[in-house]
Amino acid sequence: MSQTANVLIFDSGVGGLSVYKEIVAKLPQLNYTYIFDNEAYPYGELDHDTLIRRVEAIITRLVAQHQIDIVVIACNTASTIVLPTLRANLTIPVVGVVPAIKPASNLANKALGLIATPATITREYTHDLVRSFSQSKPVEMLGSTRLVDMAEEKLRGNAIDISELSEVLKPVAHHIDVAVLGCTHFPLIKEEIQSVLGEEVILIDSGEAIARRVQGLLGIEEKTAELGKREIFATAPPWEEGALNKALNELGFSPVQYFPLTI
Ligand code: DGL
Repeated sequence: MSQTANVLIFDSGVGGLSVYKEIVAKLPQLNYTYIFDNEAYPYGELDHDTLIRRVEAIITRLVAQHQIDIVVIACNTASTIVLPTLRANLTIPVVGVVPAIKPASNLANKALGLIATPATITREYTHDLVRSFSQSKPVEMLGSTRLVDMAEEKLRGNAIDISELSEVLKPVAHHIDVAVLGCTHFPLIKEEIQSVLGEEVILIDSGEAIARRVQGLLGIEEKTAELGKREIFATAPPWEEGALNKALNELGFSPVQYFPLTI
């Protein structure tokens, strides 16, 4: 694989940027195209069939238009249902992000918390992960769209209300010693979550593992000094676009471009 592979990263919103940051730290020389389906956000409350249809349409079009070499579905809510369809339709590698239950259960002594979207905690895929890897420890699940919104707000420069966050996390706080951040939005508010749950709770996400997987699949050992292109697309006009573009600029992206989806 050449040093300038084209990587496509997908999410419903800005959460996938937490995965992008991990990949780009290892491989800055690659070209990155990021697309977020904000027209159908939040995915944690979207029905199954619509989600699959939209992700398939977006990814297929972008892969063809941008000569993509590898796709990263940087969204747990989507990955837990769309990967088989995408892999059946594409000839390039498709990497998904699913809750890091396995590594987390090895670290837990007391109980494990899975903090994700309302959809992810109901998925059969998630329950299979829990059954396979965390039989001996209790798993407390919390599905919240408010946490996803908070991450969107923080990226646009709005401070998180810690007392509101404590209220949202209340059902799992005090019971667990390890928390899985099972939504890619949550590493963006990791410090705030840590401050509420306490320093003794270990927070685990899948970002670094995904970056290693992408690097392995592309077979590129080293980072180089060049910086690849970075483009970002949205399926609807984003809210607080100016503040969003400012944050995106700091991550190396040019302003958001519109990618209307007609299915
Ligand atoms: N970032 C997404 C995830 O990892 C989904 C957020 C949403 O749209 O509900 O699950």
